[in-house]
Order: sequence, then structure tokens, then C-alpha cells
Amino acid sequence: MRTKIVAGNWKMNKTPAEARVLIAGIRSILDGTNCPVEVVVCPPLVDLTVAAEALKGSFIGLGAQNMHAAASGAYTGEVSAQMLVETGVKYVILGHSERRALFGETDAQVNAKTKAALAAGLVPIVCVGETLEERESNRTDAVVTAQVMGSLADLGADLARCVVAYEPVWAIGTGRTATPGQAQEVHALIRRMLAKMSTGQVANTVRIQYGGSMKPDNAAELMAQPDIDGGLIGGASLKAESFADIVKAAC
Ligand code: 13P
Repeated sequence: MRTKIVAGNWKMNKTPAEARVLIAGIRSILDGTNCPVEVVVCPPLVDLTVAAEALKGSFIGLGAQNMHAAASGAYTGEVSAQMLVETGVKYVILGHSERRALFGETDAQVNAKTKAALAAGLVPIVCVGETLEERESNRTDAVVTAQVMGSLADLGADLARCVVAYEPVWAIGTGRTATPGQAQEVHALIRRMLAKMSTGQVANTVRIQYGGSMKPDNAAELMAQPDIDGGLIGGASLKAESFADIVKAAC
């Protein structure tokens, strides 16, 4: 049985002071609940120190939203995996569709970042997903397959430590969620790809999250699908109640 994992991707929202308040709110609901779910919050970079402090003594883990593949050097504005680790970070979202679309990240770059994250002991949350145009021209399988094979190439046994997030771009921030059936179909495809790239056993270990307008009222149905092992939540992770309700739906 895979442990479900629910992560909040705050994107570019919440100042450090606001992060402290949101985390306190989430903890006031979830601390002490005996819920067998891995819970992660991924605030903006400058919030991480405050967030690590605010999460002390909680079962909730801390994640970042991006990092650079290099260990150090002349990369103005970037941060390394080790810098995140020393800040108390345990997870890192990589290859989010916003980074791919707005900042030109390629599968090769995501792959290099994934390797660097794993080497530093971080759990990479590697995002894949098709655009509306790609779905409507029946290219979903080809696009997602290429992203999975490229972004997760050559990881060996470490593949088992990765989390994959399937986030159809047309469902992100649009209120338009993939149906549980649509999502399950792609999740099953991803798991078949992972088995081809490694072994069936590794593929069965990897958690595959769904992301894209996941809300308290659709989360349970999505996460009840056999290959949906949690959620990567954007908008609904910015309020303690809605994020906690999604976590509870995974319990
Ligand atoms: P929304 O939940 O706001 O659609 O965002 C999903 C997402 O991009 C999480 O990474």
C-alpha cells in the first residue's frame, strides 16, 4: 500500500508573516489527527526559514517550489539542493507546468534537477501534464510519456523515491478538474511507463499525485482511484480549512 501524499503548492503567494499564520492555521486543524497521510506545504523561497520554524514538532513536511541543478556557482538568483536541505526542506516541486511554460524549463533540465535533489536527499515532486490543445488533438499519452521518460531518465533505484504529479495544464487554476476517470487513465499510463523504465515493484512504490483544481468537494473521489495517491493543491492550499479538508479526504 502506498501512503497518500497531499502537498500544497502556494506558488507566489504569502509573505513570511502570512506563511506563519497559514501554517499555524493548518496545524491547529491537523496536528493530533491520526491521519496516515504524508502532508507537505511548499511556500515561496523566502518563507522557508519561517515556515521551518513554524512547522517544528509537526508531522507536516516542508517543500520548495524549484531549485537549480548545480551545487553552487555563478547562477544569479538561484538556490541549490543543499541550501534547501539546510533550511529544513525535505521535498521539492520540479518541472511545474508554470516553470515549463513561463520559464522555458525542459525535460533535460528537470531531469538534472531531479538527480541533484535525490543526491541531496530531497524527495522530488516531478510534474507532468498536457495542455488543452494537446489533449484535444489526442496527444495526451504521447506528451505525458515523453515528459515522464525525459524528466525521470536514468535514476536507477532512486526512481522509487520520486513522487510524480500529473497536472493537466487545462485544469490548473481554471476550476475545471479532470474527471476521476480521465485522471485515473493518465495515472495508470504513468505507472506503466515507470514499470518499463525500471521494474513493476518500483512503479508500484512511486506515489502519483493529481493536481489541477483539486478542492475539498472533489478530492475524495479523485483520490479513491487506484492509481491516484494524493494531490498537489494550488488555490485550495492557501486557506487552512480547505487544505485540511483535502488532507482529511485522503485519510
Ligand atoms: P490549482 O489547484 O490552483 O488548480 O493549482 C494546481 C497546481 O498547479 C498545483 O501545483
